[in-house]
Amino acid sequence: MRVVVCGGAGYIGSHMVRKLIEAGHTPVIFDNMSTGHQWALAEAFKGAEAKNIQPVVVSGDVLNMADLENLFEKNQADAVMHFSARSLVSESVQKPDLYYHGILVGSLNLLAAANRARVDKFIFSSTAAVYGTPDQTPIEENCPARPITPYGHATRMVEMILEDYAQAQGLKSVALRYFNAAGADPDGGLGEDHTPETHLIPNVLKAILGQTPPLEIFGNDYPTPDGTCIRDYVYVGDVAQAHLLALNYLNSQPEPGFSAFNIGSGKGFSVLEVMAAAERVTGQWVPYAFAHRRQGDPPVLVASAEKAKKTLGWNPEIPSLDEIIRTAWRWFSRRAQPS
Ligand code: UFG
Repeated sequence: MRVVVCGGAGYIGSHMVRKLIEAGHTPVIFDNMSTGHQWALAEAFKGAEAKNIQPVVVSGDVLNMADLENLFEKNQADAVMHFSARSLVSESVQKPDLYYHGILVGSLNLLAAANRARVDKFIFSSTAAVYGTPDQTPIEENCPARPITPYGHATRMVEMILEDYAQAQGLKSVALRYFNAAGADPDGGLGEDHTPETHLIPNVLKAILGQTPPLEIFGNDYPTPDGTCIRDYVYVGDVAQAHLLALNYLNSQPEPGFSAFNIGSGKGFSVLEVMAAAERVTGQWVPYAFAHRRQGDPPVLVASAEKAKKTLGWNPEIPSLDEIIRTAWRWFSRRAQPS
């Protein structure tokens, strides 16, 4: 299949590009390179030649309709995967306009262009943030979606749009609600590189490496056993694998429709537990200090991923937090060495 990967040069997108190539599909990457990297694409393409696959890269922005029309005019596609959106919970509280505009207009444009090109399969990068502060743990997909941030609201709105487009436009779509994607390709090559970095595991490892000041722990007065927030960390390669399975699932669906799946490990770890795991893996102390709570952070987000396991056949390859951190440690410590 030829699969448009919007945001294919980013952290999760580049793992996806590699995974598509490994599975024998041709990725058509569409990226404005605002947060993506050329090196990530070069790395993701490494296995392509041996498989006689010619990945395509199209430079453009989902906020520009002409760019999207050009993408679909020049490239036949069977499915679209949409990774290109801002995804920082706390930033969305500070800059709601950026999030509503980017997520809603970008997705509407992409859906319109795909519909015009008669592409009827769509996989959307959704988020645990659609649940807000959930009443139950682990969270199942039928728990009420009551977002508490602009990022969560806008992403949930896109899910509702996808649901409406099933009937109106014959769209077959899946929303994958990621919990906390983390880790790096175990062979090196692909990994996380955000500027500025805001995510916990990279910040813990960078603090160990002395690349940043001591880790700030955002809040120690949450209603959790140790007072710090609990999250569900899921290996980035397993997130990409879920998309591949979602693609198979959409191919097998005779009728238009929309489904949402949680993508998480089902296990929750507090910030202090993540630090302890990083200390076990690296054999080094994490320098840290407690700081104020960050805006938009719910105390606990842990997935039930049973639906993805049963319906998609998803089975995480690296379910252990220590192993996820080990892949990230290899990545960050290798990059810290002078080349
Ligand atoms: N944290 C710190 N210090 C840091 C960074 C993070 O204490 O330097 C804390 C946060 O306050 C939070 C936890 O660590 O409690 C995890 O924070 P991340 O920034 O790593 O991840 P988030 O849970 O905020 O968000 C991530 C993605 C979102 C996604 C969400 C789903 O960035 O896109 O997971 O759970 F919606």
